This record gives sequence, structure tokens and C-alpha cells, in this order.
Amino acid sequence: MSDQDRLLDHEYDGIQEFDNPLPGWWVYVFWASIIYSGFYWMYYEVGIGPTVHEEYGMEAVAVMDLLAEKYADLEVTEQAIAEKMADSTFMNGMSTIFKKKCATCHHTSGRGDACPNLTDDFWVHGGDLMQIYTTIRDGVAGKEMKSWQAELGPLKMLGMAAYVGTLRGKNVNGGRAPEGIKYDIKIIKPPEITAPPAGTKK
Ligand code: HEC
Repeated sequence: MSDQDRLLDHEYDGIQEFDNPLPGWWVYVFWASIIYSGFYWMYYEVGIGPTVHEEYGMEAVAVMDLLAEKYADLEVTEQAIAEKMADSTFMNGMSTIFKKKCATCHHTSGRGDACPNLTDDFWVHGGDLMQIYTTIRDGVAGKEMKSWQAELGPLKMLGMAAYVGTLRGKNVNGGRAPEGIKYDIKIIKPPEITAPPAGTKK
């Protein structure tokens, strides 16, 4: 076909238009990206791939690992834990660790199954942030709850206490029956654990 053959039959003020096909390479890239998006969607939404939220959490954990040395002799106080509760990036990282290390016994939601419910107002070993930190650090002798000192180190144990702090009083449905003493928890408004801030790339 010559160019003349593909000239469209309309004309505006003497201006005529060609109907040129898109270049071959462009069409291939177009189809390839559509096929790729199918696999991408299957991996992240249906299959084994992490959600954006989980990936963000893993990155937050990686940052914590980088900072671990700096915080080796971190001073843990009620105030320091409370501050972390309000840090949603930090809490995202901690929710990832909680799911990996604590959920087998306390359930992903923290409502407990075979082990205590961390979402109610009742605490066997104390519901203040420092008491929760101490339970995590020292574990409970003779019980399945071990000391997390060696595995998590001070910064992550502090973060974990803060994360458990955000679970307190949520009373997740289907939770294990209350045990211990009722604490009147001065709830420091827990941050919403949400997707990464806008602009975060996959
Ligand atoms: C192998 C099971 C297991 C794992 C894993 C585990 N826990 Fe526990 N946890 C327990 C048991 C059992 C108790 C109750 C101990 C008792 O009866 O006094 C407990 C108690 C607790 C308590 C005290 C609850 C209260 O009422 O005072 C806290 C806080 C806690 N765990 C946090 C965590 C965190 C945070 C992690 C993850 C880093 C974790 N646990 C991992 C079994 C586990």
C-alpha cells in the first residue's frame, strides 16, 4: 500500500489525515505489558506474593535491623514505648514480626487461642507497657512463653511491647476468655495500621 492509499477521506480546511498503523515494536510492548500484568496480579493478589502492606512491613523490619547496633543499649521507658505506638511505620514493621513470631500462639489478631488474649483488658503479667515489655524480655518461666531477648534485641522488644500496646482493649471477636487482672488502660490512641503512605513504590 502506498501512503496515498491510507489517506483518510475527510479534510478540514485543507488538512488531510493519514491512518498509519502503530509500529510493530510498540504493539508487542503493549501486549507484553498486558500479559505481564496478569502474572503480576496473580502473584501479588492471588498467589504467594506479599501484599504492599507486608512488603512495607518487611522493609521497616530491615531498617530496624540496620539500627539495631545503634540501639544496643537503648533505655526502655513507658514513654519510649508509648512514642513508638504512635509511629505507624514502626508499627507496620512490628505487625510483620508479630505475625511471624507470635501469631502461632497468640493468633494473627492477638486474640489468643491456646495462649492469652492480648486484645482484652485482662493481664496475667501486667498490662502496663513496661510490664508487657518485661514479659516479652524475660518470658514466663515454666510456660511456653520464652524470653525474646536473644532473638529480638532491645529495639524490637520495645517495638513489640508497643505493638501489643496497640492491641490492648481492641477486644477482637472470638477472643480467648479473660485471664488475670483487669487493667484500666490509659489508651494512647493506637495508630491505624494502614497501607504505606502515598508515593511508596511497589
Ligand atoms: C510458643 C507459644 C508462644 C509464642 C510464640 C509467644 N507467646 Fe506470648 N505467651 C504464651 C503463653 C503460653 C503465655 C501465658 C503464660 C502464662 O500462662 O503465664 C504468653 C503470655 C504472653 C504475654 C502476657 C499476657 C498476660 O496476660 O499478661 C504477652 C504480653 C505475650 N505473651 C507476648 C508475646 C509476644 C509479643 C510474642 C512474640 C514475640 C509472643 N508472646 C510469642 C505463648 C507464646
